[in-house]
Amino acid sequence: MTDVLVIGTGVAGLSAALSAAEAGARVTVVTKAALSHTATDRAQGGMAAMTGSLPGGNPTDSVRLHVQDTLVAGAGLCDPLVVHGVVRDSAAAVRDLTGRGVAFDRVAGPDSPWVQGLEAAHSVSRILHAGGDATGHAIQEALSARAREMAHGGHIRLCEYTLVTDVIVAGDRVVGCTARPVLPGRELGGEEFLPADHVVLATGGAGQLYPWTTNPPVATGDGIALALRAGAEVRDLEFFQFHPTALAAPGSFLISEAVRGEGAVLRNQHGRRFMTDVDPREELAPRDVVARAVFAVRTASDDGAAYLDCSTIPVPSGLTRAEFLARRFPSIHAELTRRGIDWSTEWVPVSPAAHYLMGGIATDALGRTTVPGLWAAGECARTGMHGANRLASNSLLEAAVLGRRIGELLGDSGAPSDVWPVARGTDPEPRELPHCDSTTAESFSRAALQRTMWQGAGVFRTAEGIERAKAGLESWLAAASSSDEEDTAAAPGTLTDAEDRNLLTVGHALVCATLARAESRGAHQRADHPATDPRLATSTAWIASGSAAPTPERTDHADSLSR
Ligand code: SIN
Repeated sequence: MTDVLVIGTGVAGLSAALSAAEAGARVTVVTKAALSHTATDRAQGGMAAMTGSLPGGNPTDSVRLHVQDTLVAGAGLCDPLVVHGVVRDSAAAVRDLTGRGVAFDRVAGPDSPWVQGLEAAHSVSRILHAGGDATGHAIQEALSARAREMAHGGHIRLCEYTLVTDVIVAGDRVVGCTARPVLPGRELGGEEFLPADHVVLATGGAGQLYPWTTNPPVATGDGIALALRAGAEVRDLEFFQFHPTALAAPGSFLISEAVRGEGAVLRNQHGRRFMTDVDPREELAPRDVVARAVFAVRTASDDGAAYLDCSTIPVPSGLTRAEFLARRFPSIHAELTRRGIDWSTEWVPVSPAAHYLMGGIATDALGRTTVPGLWAAGECARTGMHGANRLASNSLLEAAVLGRRIGELLGDSGAPSDVWPVARGTDPEPRELPHCDSTTAESFSRAALQRTMWQGAGVFRTAEGIERAKAGLESWLAAASSSDEEDTAAAPGTLTDAEDRNLLTVGHALVCATLARAESRGAHQRADHPATDPRLATSTAWIASGSAAPTPERTDHADSLSR
């Protein structure tokens, strides 16, 4: 029987775990927090899916249209084969999720068609929602319930509050992971070895690199750091999508684009609507355009503020504005009310915030990384689905499809070779991340790291700012590794220490990638290179300093890649 270890419990991790267990693998699921502390649980947007073949779906949509919209958003860096495969499998993923208990919103009662939303840059209505703005929560609840049920039946082993500290590679393949329990007070307990034939990284994103993020506190880039330490290749880390409207308050919170879709407008400190000067699509211009405009207004204003005004939203007759907002956006309404903000009458202060990392652990269309036995799915992976900019609502879809695909392959005794045979062809050669040995900067703190990342690799980037951030990160990394050498027992004592190390590793790789891309493309905007350079329409690939680069092989894998 195959032993599969899945790290992470969002839609990617649990889809992989459930599918692998149902197909006969022995599955262990590990998360450093509780099962539902995930980015999936927070996802307010919906899930884009090509549902024409399903009862209640949208027959006017097609694979071709969804692929086309995704490729346009990805600004030349999507892998069309991967996009096609994910979109083609979207109906099966929806069928799977509904079978596991996810109730996507319907127009009028159980057998009526699904509500299919239209979002910016989608050419037809294809976004499924559940509970209005609580799609991710509905998916998380259903998958968590099924995982607990399988754990009670002895089909899955669930390890909550357990931090994976390293993926262990022996000879040329993965043999398991080391892990430590997270004790009350975030102390880490003693290390244990968890053997596995296959390890699936599904740890989500790295929004905690920045002071403003829509991501949950657990989004500390753990999977990407684990992959780099295991010698795997990462790609396109310079592409981080900033959402224009997060609540500008400590412990920020996403105010969905759908609120602007309903008619809310953005104002500066003097009450002037500024998007009308920026783009003919006004508040519904592409996400990166609005994010840069909000950033510029906040930078220029005395009070550092930009505001979302919801008093312009048309309200159906018979409802007050507060009633309509509560009904249409239950999660946002509950969170703003909890914070004492009455958004039916008050302007909401907003800031751009780190929202979604397009780059990550390089995988092929099956989720295989460059290390045999190591797989990745969801936000920590870079499959080629999102390119330089993710089309809204494509992330739950990609995570569900890839998680399910990996799980089925691992549960299946006929799984293909578990290493991605990188046929370099047009793929970039990986560069080694620089070794860090100079210690000059201010002492490390999470807040200092976040400030450095925001200034150097935030919404606007320049060579000078990125170089400064890189020097700061290299100095912190050098200090961390010299303290490890002096004290061989200097393993992180707390979960926060371990997360900080992972953030430093990922932040450093991200600034190196950001510096290397001397152009503006998709979510990556260089003020010193404002144009897109057609010669740079290719990924950047990186491995940790001292890692052996995967050997290029001549292969013809079109069949297995398109499945
Ligand atoms: C939003 O609702 O604004 C975010 C949705 C997404 O990022 O896909």
